[in-house]
Amino acid sequence: MTHLSKVGTFQLGGRTVKRFGYGAMQLAGPGVFGPPKDRNAALAVLREAVKSGVDHIDTSDAYGPHVTNQIIREALHPYPKDLVIVTKVGATRGPQGSWDPAFSAEDLTSQVHDNLRNLGVDTLEVVNLRIMFNALGPAEGSIEAQLSSLMKLQREGKVRHIGLSNVTAKQVEEGRAMTEIVCVQNLYNLAHRHDDALIDSLAASGIAYVPFFPLGGFSPLQSSALSDVARQLGATPMQVALAWLLRRSPNILLIPGTSSVEHLRENLAAAELELSEGAMKALERITSSR
Ligand SMILES: NC(=O)c1ccc[n+]([C@@H]2O[C@H](COP(=O)([O-])OP(=O)(O)OC[C@H]3O[C@@H](n4cnc5c(N)ncnc54)[C@H](OP(=O)(O)O)[C@@H]3O)[C@@H](O)[C@H]2O)c1
Repeated sequence: MTHLSKVGTFQLGGRTVKRFGYGAMQLAGPGVFGPPKDRNAALAVLREAVKSGVDHIDTSDAYGPHVTNQIIREALHPYPKDLVIVTKVGATRGPQGSWDPAFSAEDLTSQVHDNLRNLGVDTLEVVNLRIMFNALGPAEGSIEAQLSSLMKLQREGKVRHIGLSNVTAKQVEEGRAMTEIVCVQNLYNLAHRHDDALIDSLAASGIAYVPFFPLGGFSPLQSSALSDVARQLGATPMQVALAWLLRRSPNILLIPGTSSVEHLRENLAAAELELSEGAMKALERITSSR
């Protein structure tokens, strides 16, 4: 069995988690909409993750919607004491599966309540406020109103810790001036390194950075340099992409997503993978050739 403790731990809110977690988005149906083809397979992935030592699961009630959280509850409730489930708010799903920004105080309140009900908990350990001012990615603009609404839910005891997602460095700064921000979740991987400076500044402040799409998301990473390094190491390209993130900065927490137990095991085995300086240099070339 893979020893996840090899990759070390990091603070996530009031808890300490292993740096290798799991992202549950792939457990809903196609397009993250509706139920999965095989519910038992989805339950098996979650149980295997926890059995393998994963103590950090990322989710959202917008996955399905509701479906992924209900599967998490069915697979794992009552939850192990050391398991940290991180969810997010800021979007709802349209009737055809669109992702619609939903940021009013009423929207955020009902999303927090949906998460509480579907996960079967009294308090959400960490909630990421996912900003969606622009469909393409982070876009500048004040987050004060949205964050104030979430802070109110925190004061009411529904939310223990707050994180931010899909945000700019300026929005992180604005958020940190208002309250404690325990993590930032943005798109980042070997080929998308827009957040390099942000990751380093969060590391200096002891704040977790949780890259989404660590494997490239809906279009998994493909690069001849990545395949070459993987071949030399007797590993898979996905394992190398994850090992690179672990090497990149100590505040990076992994949440790769998969709907398959086989892929989950393959991904977790990346915890054992050592990247030489030569491999790191070859991988850096992927970024510079973007
Ligand atoms: N904050 C946000 O806005 C946001 C946005 C997106 C995602 N997220 C979170 O981030 C997590 C990770 O992102 P993600 O799941 O979208 O993308 P990802 O982890 O980059 O990649 C998942 C994709 O890679 C495939 N895959 C996984 N392991 C593989 C392997 N060993 N070999 C080949 N293919 C493999 C999966 O297919 P299979 O199912 O077939 O394995 C799936 O298509 C999500 O689960 C979610 O919790 C957050």
